[in-house]
Amino acid sequence: MTTTPAQTTPIIGLEGLSRDFQRPPVLAERLLALLGRKALPPVLRAVTDVDLAVRRGEVLGLVGESGCGKSTLGRMVSGILPPTQGRVTFDGQAVPTLTGRDKLGYVLGVQMIFQDPYASLNPRQKVGDIIAEPLRVHGMATSRREVIERVDTALAEVGLDPSYKERYPHQFSGGQRQRIGIARAFIVNPRFLVCDEPIAALDVSIQAQVINLFMDLRDKYELTYLFISHDLSVVRHIADRVAIMYLGRLVEIAPAADLFAQPAHPYTRALLAEIPSVKRRRRKFQPVRGELPSPLNPPPGCTFHPRCPFAIARCREERPVLRDIAPRRQSACHLSDQI
Ligand SMILES: Nc1ncnc2c1ncn2[C@@H]1O[C@H](COP(=O)(O)OP(=O)(O)OP(=O)(O)O)[C@@H](O)[C@H]1O
Ligand code: SF4
Ligand SMILES: [Mg+2]
Repeated sequence: MTTTPAQTTPIIGLEGLSRDFQRPPVLAERLLALLGRKALPPVLRAVTDVDLAVRRGEVLGLVGESGCGKSTLGRMVSGILPPTQGRVTFDGQAVPTLTGRDKLGYVLGVQMIFQDPYASLNPRQKVGDIIAEPLRVHGMATSRREVIERVDTALAEVGLDPSYKERYPHQFSGGQRQRIGIARAFIVNPRFLVCDEPIAALDVSIQAQVINLFMDLRDKYELTYLFISHDLSVVRHIADRVAIMYLGRLVEIAPAADLFAQPAHPYTRALLAEIPSVKRRRRKFQPVRGELPSPLNPPPGCTFHPRCPFAIARCREERPVLRDIAPRRQSACHLSDQI
């Protein structure tokens, strides 16, 4: 079978994507600035130089410890946060250059599902109004009747009774609230979902149900997911491919089966060694010995070197680049050079 360029163009492409944050100045810094002494707060680089192509129909898991930049990356993909450097492409076109229908295609086509469904639902709005909001914002429904029909369909799609549209968010369980969040994203017929830890706040007993809902919707509508999690055991169930992030950079990308069978990067190996078994499953697992360094002051060379059991002298000086180590596999480690 031959593939056309349209089939091979990634639905989402990230090219040299970086994002800096400048934290607000503390009192001492403001006083020094008033005295004319340089006292700008340091810049924190949350995401650094990420290149990634997400293919149509795949579930790409993005995994890393708390604070490594996963949500910042997800927010840039979904257009909520502009990058400091680099660009996001949608169907091969740079997002900032999109206009008219193409721009709307991206704005509606890429939706985000958040970790805490309660925080992202307005407690004073009825569920029906919450789900209908994107239709109103984008002028996508011609009549009140159409709005109601589409809300009912979206609720049924996520396994909730259409009569629930008259209720308020506090009347629902965590799992049901996450379904409401999914319905709100779904009402605009998205093609790509950024799921930012969508089950992390749910009871373990509910997590599998919500994962199954994501997978059913993906099969039915040929969706593509960027599925963010700090927990490899969750990603193992659903991802086709996995990207591992450490201190703002991608350090390994591999098909899920290969990554779990034979992790290449020492950080991935450490994460895998820490996957909790079903019996001793902890809500927040403590991966990898040693502290995650501050992104305000990243270590030189390979940023993983202070925690890496395999570090050699070169690791303290030279940063390894993410490069091909096998078909469809990339890793950023000096040891891969020796294979
Ligand atoms: N708006 C902001 N202003 C300043 N710093 C920020 C901002 N958003 C994120 N950061 C910092 O950027 C870094 C990456 O944060 P981010 O939320 O992307 O990490 P994460 O991997 O999603 O973490 P978690 O697993 O805890 O959700 C952190 O050091 C965080 O403190
Ligand atoms: S480059 Fe060196 S420190 Fe970094 S992961 Fe590889 S062996 Fe460890
Ligand atoms: Mg996050």
